Amino acid sequence: MNVFAQNTIVLNVDSVGPKINKEIYGHFSEHLGTCIYEGIYVGKDSEIPNINGYRKDVVEALKEMKVPVLRWPGGCFADTYHWKDGIGQQEDRPSIVNVFWGGVTEDNSFGTHEFLDFCELIGTEPYLSINVGSGSVQEAMEWVEYVTSSDESPMTELRKENGREDPWDVKFWGIGNETWGCGGEMSPGYYADLFRNYSAYIRGNGFQKVICGPSADDTHWTETIMSKLQGKLNLTQGVSMHYYTLPTGNWGSKGSSVDFEEDMYFSTLHGTMKIEDYINQHLAVMLKYDKEGKVKLIVDEWGTWYDQLPGTKGGFLQQQNTVRDALVAGINLNIFNNHADMISMANIAQIVNVLQSPILTKGKEMVKTPTYYIFKMYNVHQEANLVPLELQTEDYSYEGESIPAITASASEKDGVVSVTITNANPNKTVSINCSLNKDLKVADAKILTSNSYTDYNDFGKEEKVSLSDFSTAEVRDKQLNISIPAHSVLLLQLQ
Ligand code: AHR
Repeated sequence: MNVFAQNTIVLNVDSVGPKINKEIYGHFSEHLGTCIYEGIYVGKDSEIPNINGYRKDVVEALKEMKVPVLRWPGGCFADTYHWKDGIGQQEDRPSIVNVFWGGVTEDNSFGTHEFLDFCELIGTEPYLSINVGSGSVQEAMEWVEYVTSSDESPMTELRKENGREDPWDVKFWGIGNETWGCGGEMSPGYYADLFRNYSAYIRGNGFQKVICGPSADDTHWTETIMSKLQGKLNLTQGVSMHYYTLPTGNWGSKGSSVDFEEDMYFSTLHGTMKIEDYINQHLAVMLKYDKEGKVKLIVDEWGTWYDQLPGTKGGFLQQQNTVRDALVAGINLNIFNNHADMISMANIAQIVNVLQSPILTKGKEMVKTPTYYIFKMYNVHQEANLVPLELQTEDYSYEGESIPAITASASEKDGVVSVTITNANPNKTVSINCSLNKDLKVADAKILTSNSYTDYNDFGKEEKVSLSDFSTAEVRDKQLNISIPAHSVLLLQLQ
């Protein structure tokens, strides 16, 4: 238990840390429920206002939030997906049964062109997940050629016939997803050999090839794949890791996304904070085999996973998003920022209508969730340099268990220092003293909070949770005292 006379943040503004890759603010879009169809893509003939079939409201909201990278087509779906079924005239494409998610039949109208054009429209880097579970090396090679090559070849001819003259710029390639589970039920040793085989043929300038890494704290998986890459570390640039936050920690009954009390609020935040320990454990293993730290960690699925909302279709993973989720987002993003030297990317699951989404849609309506506003608030950290900080915080305790009340991270870009702070305690305003080594003034401050941690934004109702201006005291003698309201997330900008 931490007992301090005073909560403090010490900022050494002159000490420039590593760059916070913008990809740490990445997202994930899977053919799952209404993420792609309805959430992103409604087709050109839809009554819902759209740009070439993409929902206009969603496109505008995502541009404003800033999506640096977007992963597709899965998830578990990716290892059932055959990309050639999703090209050519939409009406001629064969359908696919989404065996993992609801067993629904999809018409493949959203395929490679539709995804990559969407990325160009919203200004994001695509991250394609290759089918290793039920695909082949040849299928993967041809996809890479179709998408990225400017050579004369059968695949580039096919792409041109389908209306795209120039290749797309795709840097990020995931080779298999959760190959320890839905992506093929493989052993780590078998998969690592398969990865080497695929990676040898996935070739292109500046490619970042991601090896499927562990779930949560499975360091045995990390150890095996890293040891199997000895002497061949250049085949990968990133090890992926997946970690979901479940209030109960039990996949059978995870807990409600809207109807919960302090026990579930506390256990959710307690559970989400475990990610930092898991990250450190995996990094220790990786650095044992890669002393220079060239291979980075990619948290390519993270976020909350609750019981699906009553009345929604099984397997569609639809949940609401409250102030509790804003805290989860703020805490995780602070942790990722503080590991910017070794975490090169992170993708929250998922971008629209699935799990911890920034955006929810229902027919013509769209809401921005509390998680949306955290991503919007934190986008100031993208491509900024980490400013290391020393944090001393009291605990937030509940029935004998404790977590740190405060988390924080800071960065500097163009002379502006941005500090993001979360206060997990739902019962108490926490006062903190922030000391700077330079004479800076508060240029801007924003807060996300609400009366209750169960508050959320609902369809057809006035928006309850968003960002508002926050007034702080002035900096005096390089000291700033801030009172951070209960269950809130704060951005402080100093100049
Ligand atoms: O995000 C939902 C699912 O969670 C993904 O399809 C899978 O990779 C993970 O188990």
